Amino acid sequence: MTEMPESRNRPLAIVVLAAGAGTRMRSERPKVLHEIAGRSMLGHVLATAAALAPERLALVTGVGAEAVAAEGKAALAALGAPAPAICHQAERRGTGHAVMQAAPALEGFEGDVLVLYGDTPLLRAETLRALLSAEAPLLVLGFEAADPTGYGRLVIGPDSGLERIVEQKDADAAERAITACNSGVMAGDAALMLPLLDRLTPDNAQGELLLTDLVGLARAEGARVAAAFCPESETQGVNDRAQLARAEALWQERARLAAMRAGATMQDPPSVILSHDTVLEQDCWIGANVVFGPGARVCRQGTVRPFCHIEHTMIGSGASVGPFARLRGGTEIGPGAQVGNFVEMKNADFGPGAKAGHLSYLGDASIGAKTNIGAGTITCNYDGVDKHRTEIGREAFIGTGSALIAPVKVGDGAYVATGAVITDDVPEDALAIARARQVTKPGRASLLRRMLAGRKAKKAAE
Ligand code: UD1
Ligand code: CA
Repeated sequence: MTEMPESRNRPLAIVVLAAGAGTRMRSERPKVLHEIAGRSMLGHVLATAAALAPERLALVTGVGAEAVAAEGKAALAALGAPAPAICHQAERRGTGHAVMQAAPALEGFEGDVLVLYGDTPLLRAETLRALLSAEAPLLVLGFEAADPTGYGRLVIGPDSGLERIVEQKDADAAERAITACNSGVMAGDAALMLPLLDRLTPDNAQGELLLTDLVGLARAEGARVAAAFCPESETQGVNDRAQLARAEALWQERARLAAMRAGATMQDPPSVILSHDTVLEQDCWIGANVVFGPGARVCRQGTVRPFCHIEHTMIGSGASVGPFARLRGGTEIGPGAQVGNFVEMKNADFGPGAKAGHLSYLGDASIGAKTNIGAGTITCNYDGVDKHRTEIGREAFIGTGSALIAPVKVGDGAYVATGAVITDDVPEDALAIARARQVTKPGRASLLRRMLAGRKAKKAAE
């Protein structure tokens, strides 16, 4: 992005276009509800919009209007931002027509109007701030395309101002050779933009009212139009599943870089998948092939060894999990705790310094500080109808291969013997043995073998 003066600090209104059918996605879901890093594309765009603290925010809906409006409201509410004005575009007659639907929400507004597309989820607020600080009554965000096919081309005049935008379908051979392309982001003075919208005509190859035609109309009025440029990676639009995957990859790369710059070590960055809200604190260490779903935080000096899947989980400072751990559903791993391979936790509160080294399922459970959970321990939290809690105190010892049938409590310092099936509460400092007593019969092995072999031979003869 070229250097620009400080923001003009004029009132801002944002219009987000999200009415399109997204036919090329071949999906029953509206396009803008498809996700990047566990958050809808619309959610990404609205988060960027909210970061600019607009005075007004309008969301233009069409296909799947109800679901799109609901997601828009939820995304903004989650950010603590005001609800958007929902403007319905009953018929898809083009991007210009879509912006016109926001007119009621812009009634009496004086300042800049910024138009964003719901299918362009990677734009950063900084880029938009820089665009808004450019000195012209109408502004377009452009990029240099490696392959401009499909994009509107920016026709720059001799005064380096933008003369007009030509859509792919309307472009001649010379115009198609232009690599400066329209990102779809447009901003301008409401007093100039809004009246011009009424003068758009559908005399183009698509037979639509194109927002891009505003540029030529503004020029004809003698208004200056400027183009600002940003990296192509930010303007990646999503029209099909391949572009969705490309946008996801670009987002992941950006997020991994940001995490590393903030002090996280990644053993093999390209193999780590982050979520839109993953927090990796300073000096944490993330192994190869780790996947973070939504709601994950790794505190300082936390270690996540390779092949873990972690969501809705807080990993405390200095704690270590994996390899091959699956943590989910509101789990909290205390500072310095250790969770080993093939351990699954769900809605578990795992105390500071506690250990579960191998092959366990701990669900709807609380485990006190420094308690040791033996290999293969299972909390039986589900009776087929309801879920129940298992509560284990601090510095307790749960023997290998135990089953704890919830609801059940094991007190502080208690000791559960190996292979126990615990159905009753175990008081503090008690030893619980819950298994059948061993019976040993000397010399009976060979007798048994002979009997079994005889039975097999008899069966074969039949
Ligand atoms: C648009 C631009 C093109 C630019 C490209 C960047 C126009 C005319 N063309 O083309 O210059 O290079 O984006 O990705 O603007 N929408 C509505 N209602 C409509 C039509 C579209 O809400 O009636 C919404 C869509 O949901 C989408 C956005 O507007 O979010 C863009 O529409 P789309 O049809 O994808 O435009 P492109 O052909 O990609
Ligand atoms: Ca598009």
